[in-house]
Amino acid sequence: MDKQELIKDRISLKSKFVWLENSQVKTDQDLGLPRPTIFKVYENYEYLFELPKPKTDTLQMNQLFKVIEKRKSVRQFTDTPLTIDELSFLLWATQGIRVLGPDDAYSRRIVPSGGSRHTFETYLAVHNVTELQPGIYHYLPKTHQIGLLFTDPDMQAHIVALAKRQEFVAKCAVTFIWSCIPYRAEWRYHWESHKMILMDAGHVCQNLYLATEAINAGTCAIGAYDQEYADEYLHLDGNEEFVIYAAPVGKV
Ligand SMILES: Cc1cc2nc3c(=O)[nH]c(=O)nc-3n(C[C@H](O)[C@H](O)[C@H](O)COP(=O)(O)O)c2cc1C
Repeated sequence: MDKQELIKDRISLKSKFVWLENSQVKTDQDLGLPRPTIFKVYENYEYLFELPKPKTDTLQMNQLFKVIEKRKSVRQFTDTPLTIDELSFLLWATQGIRVLGPDDAYSRRIVPSGGSRHTFETYLAVHNVTELQPGIYHYLPKTHQIGLLFTDPDMQAHIVALAKRQEFVAKCAVTFIWSCIPYRAEWRYHWESHKMILMDAGHVCQNLYLATEAINAGTCAIGAYDQEYADEYLHLDGNEEFVIYAAPVGKV
C-alpha cells in the first residue's frame, strides 16, 4: 500500500456523520426496515449453564484507584483455575445487562455502546474454570447463562493458531473471543457504524482488564489474530459475523 492509499484508508478512522446527513443515502432504519435483534441464541447448545449472580465478595480488590493504577497486560498465568463466580463477574463486567428495553428493543449494559447497538457476541474457550468442562461456550447476556457449543481435544492448539502462534493466549484459564455482527449498528448508522464498533470494542476489553485486576487475575488484549482461522474455528460466516478481538484470562 503506498502513502496515498494509506491516507485514503484513514477514512475508517474519521467521523462520517455529516457526510451521511448530506448524502442521499438512507439507513435501513430510515427506510423502515425491521430492527435487527441484538441477541443471538443458538438452537443447538450441548447444555446451558446458569451462571451465579455476580457479587462484590468475589473481588479481592474493590478500590477503583488501585484497580486502575495496577492495570497492565499480563501474558503469564498460573495453573490456578478461575472460579465460576469469577467468570460470572467477568462476563457481567464486559457484556452484562442493566436494563432491557420493551420487546428486547435495546439493552443498557455495563459497557457503553454507540446508540446502544451492542454488536458483540462473546465466545469463551474454557480451559480451566471450576464447574465447567473445557470447550467453546457462547454467552447469553439476557439470561446470564453460557451454552456449550462444542468440545475439542485440540482446542488449545487451535487457539494458539488463531492467535497467530502467540502461545500464551491458550495457556490461561479461559480465552475470551469477541465477534461482531455489524448489521446491528449499520441498520442505524450505515457507514458510520464501523468506527463506532471499534470504539465499542475498546470499552469491552478495558472493562475486562479492570475486572481481572480486581480478582487477582490478568489479561492481555489480542488484536493480532488470524481472521479466517478464527472465524472458521468458531463456525462464523466471516461476513455477517466475524471475530474482532480476543483476550486470555488467568490467575497471576
Ligand atoms: C488493540 C490492542 C491490541 C493488542 N494486541 C496484542 C497482541 O496481539 N498481542 C500482545 O501480546 N499484546 C497485544 N496488546 C497489548 C499491548 O501490547 C499492550 O497494551 C502494550 O504493550 C502496553 O502495555 P500495557 O497494556 O501493560 O500498558 C494489544 C493491545 C491493544 C489495546
